[in-house]
Amino acid sequence: MNKMWWKEAVVYQIYWRSFFDSDGDGYGDLKGVIEKLDYIKDLGIDVIWLNPFYNSPDRDNGYDISDYYGIMEKAGDMAIFEELIQEIHNRGLKVIMDLVVNHTSDQHPWFVESRSSKDHPKRDWYIWEDPKDGKAPNNWRSYFAPSCWEWDEETGQYYYHSFAVEQPDLNWKNPVLRNEIYKMMRFWLDKGIDGFRMDVINLLAKKEDFLDAENPYNISYLANNPGIHDYLQEMHREVLQHYNVMTVGEIPFVSPDEGLLYVDESRNELNTLFHFQVADDMPTWDMLRYKEIQSSWYEGLKQRGWNSQFLNNHDHTRQVTRYGNDGKYRVQSAKLLATMIHTLPGTPYIFQGEEIGMTGVRFDSIEDYNDIAMKNKFHEEVSKGRDPQEVFESLLLLSRDNSRTPMQWNDSPQAGFSIGEPWIKVNPNYNEINVEAALKNPDSVYYYYRKLIALRKENDVMVYGDYKDILPDDDHLYVYTRSYKNITWLIVLNHCDEKQTFTFEGYTDRDLILSNYQRDLETNEEILFPHEVRIYQITK
Ligand code: GLC
Repeated sequence: MNKMWWKEAVVYQIYWRSFFDSDGDGYGDLKGVIEKLDYIKDLGIDVIWLNPFYNSPDRDNGYDISDYYGIMEKAGDMAIFEELIQEIHNRGLKVIMDLVVNHTSDQHPWFVESRSSKDHPKRDWYIWEDPKDGKAPNNWRSYFAPSCWEWDEETGQYYYHSFAVEQPDLNWKNPVLRNEIYKMMRFWLDKGIDGFRMDVINLLAKKEDFLDAENPYNISYLANNPGIHDYLQEMHREVLQHYNVMTVGEIPFVSPDEGLLYVDESRNELNTLFHFQVADDMPTWDMLRYKEIQSSWYEGLKQRGWNSQFLNNHDHTRQVTRYGNDGKYRVQSAKLLATMIHTLPGTPYIFQGEEIGMTGVRFDSIEDYNDIAMKNKFHEEVSKGRDPQEVFESLLLLSRDNSRTPMQWNDSPQAGFSIGEPWIKVNPNYNEINVEAALKNPDSVYYYYRKLIALRKENDVMVYGDYKDILPDDDHLYVYTRSYKNITWLIVLNHCDEKQTFTFEGYTDRDLILSNYQRDLETNEEILFPHEVRIYQITK
């Protein structure tokens, strides 16, 4: 497999509005990111991914863009952005930006013009359809609304939106629109950014016929439609191939076979992808399914394409809460999950706060939440007559706000995130879980991340090693090897609250490289404590 910098990198995702507020308006901002760059550098990070900060009415936290060339006032301005890139590069780090081109805001001038009349030249920059039998063209649901069609009274047609009503989809069939997007991408690349995280990029092409879906709740019809690979290859030809950049596509609803089409190195589309098999199939931890997913993606992409490893981000509940134990074993469990992410094949992504073991939240009422997906769902279900409290409870585990609460820097008010009133409440556990406390404790989750990241830099086996699952049928233990050239690492993880036994048969000569327990292994090495992890080097 070709060696590439983005395969060796560790990426840190900054949800800037919740990272650090430099001016006290309650929103994190780009200046706040600059102030914390040394913290990120010290962790050992190579690449920063910044969530969108383009101009936006902010209905979906910046994923509804009204001007691709402007910076949202809450985030800063162009001068601060340029300073940020400079400061990132001065520290030897790289930065990738979110590229959101499946849809815009309904406030974007393109859409305002498009909806102004049926004859406007920008009419078909978006997707407009006549009513069918006096109703929406089909029964499709969108991610955030009961229908993906919205009626426009003025012009007597429906427009298409994969997400909220305020996020109309662009019409990628239109070459003029596509060129406009490529121009915008060059604008940011020429400012010196190092790549893009591409928002729902496999949604760009739409099904031609818009026939009713048998089960409209399975919204996979929104993605992977004919034409998508032509658009991505064109984007590569027109833009990406001219820069030394990294691209990671957000690609929902794909199997490894379909995923490979996006990242196969010979196809010139994207470098790597986020697939959502883990998030979609596993509301909570499911060891056997997780192993299957890892093996099938490893086999599916082997020698041809590159995977990404992550268990949470701004859309998915914090990993130690969703997939680990955020109570008694929070620290051990956070370290175990980190070990998987950094030792399984693919580029690891850390979502801000993960490195100190931040947890999900449970606020008292729907009013405390901001997530448009959660709120729309709440109102939809309540309007059907369901009990509001029951609906509220059912939405708590997967609310996107679980990950969006402010970064916990210290135990001062608002967790040291802001001197103002934060746009979303801080997690009340900030007194205990915060960066300052983590930095003072040599045994913290933070220092464990630092060790893992440093190890990955020194050991190609963690990046390029072949993967083999040793115990595919075990419910609690996850044991696998990575092998590269003449080096083999054995990773042993006990992902449960009880002790487990692993006999190490066939692995007699082993040196311990890293563990999350400080214990004497002379005796009882075969017993693994709850959430214990060990990484060994094996000599054959
Ligand atoms: C992606 C983003 C999510 C956003 C959606 C619509 O899934 O990660 O936050 O709401 O796209 O742009």
